[in-house]
Amino acid sequence: MIWNDLKSPFLILAPMEGVTDVIFRQVIASAGRPDLFFTEFTNVSSYASEKGRENALERLEIAPTDSPIIAQIWGKNPEHFAKTCAALEDLGFSGVDLNFGCPDKHVNKAGGGAAMIKTPELAVECFRNAKKSTNLPVSIKTRLGWAKVEEYQNWLSTLLNEHPAALTVHLRTKKEMSKVAAHYELIPEIINLRNKISPETKLIINGDIKDKTAAFNLHKTYPEIDGFMIGRGVFQNPYCFTEHTPTREELMNLLKLHLDLFEQESKKHYVSYEPLKHFFKMYINNFPGASDIRAKLMETHSVTEARAIIES
Ligand SMILES: Cc1cc2nc3c(=O)[nH]c(=O)nc-3n(C[C@H](O)[C@H](O)[C@H](O)COP(=O)(O)O)c2cc1C
Repeated sequence: MIWNDLKSPFLILAPMEGVTDVIFRQVIASAGRPDLFFTEFTNVSSYASEKGRENALERLEIAPTDSPIIAQIWGKNPEHFAKTCAALEDLGFSGVDLNFGCPDKHVNKAGGGAAMIKTPELAVECFRNAKKSTNLPVSIKTRLGWAKVEEYQNWLSTLLNEHPAALTVHLRTKKEMSKVAAHYELIPEIINLRNKISPETKLIINGDIKDKTAAFNLHKTYPEIDGFMIGRGVFQNPYCFTEHTPTREELMNLLKLHLDLFEQESKKHYVSYEPLKHFFKMYINNFPGASDIRAKLMETHSVTEARAIIES
């Protein structure tokens, strides 16, 4: 079981929609991989419908360097959770994670992500359906609550009573989005809840942890935390899962790899070039002339054009 194989404290690249796809994960694996990858989230009703399945399967594509990797899914239909989970083991995943924390308004309007905090009975039903339809360990990623921090006591207890294999807590409410500092002050209470209700559940802390050093420092203060999830820190430093400070040349080579992988993926199916531009700042930053190069790259429409600018 993957969660027992990981040595504490383990590090995870947070699932990020539009970011942690099969291309980006290979880039990070090349820089220095985390102990565990998560996919972007895939909608269970999309997988369960004939029309949506092809797209869902594209999102669930994995590369050899991804393993071990957890498939993250979201939705609100318990049967669709079961149907999707039943397929994941054969696709090569080591586990399945249920997203009960996404604050996106479209996702919440559809009853998924953080909206599950307001429908705990449905959340439990989805979790049970997922669990009974697969041999894979089922974990949950969530927030402290919907509107108030204090909700965490009931909400996390409800989830822990289901004994998930792992529970990732993003230390903010849905209402707080990412606008306030993560509530580290609640870590001792959350550890207590886990120890009391489901000591076998791995506890993963998420929110404002920028790199391996920060995670390991937090672990020194709270050694009972099993793992740490890093999200936006990867944009500041794609080597954040190592203690290495990359040189400008290493970052440039990583960008070239990103472009190569993008091109390879585009040969398999359509991938939009525009979102690729969000990544340029990650590689070209903090040196004289960096913003001029980025401005030129933002004008490009293809990998070929981007390569020409980098080479010049
Ligand atoms: C662009 C973006 C996309 C995200 N997509 C997802 C997602 O698909 N599933 C999920 O559970 N969380 C998602 N998140 C939330 C992150 O996984 C993480 O919980 C959040 O960024 C806080 O961690 P950080 O402070 O280390 O960034 C996303 C965050 C960002 C910035």
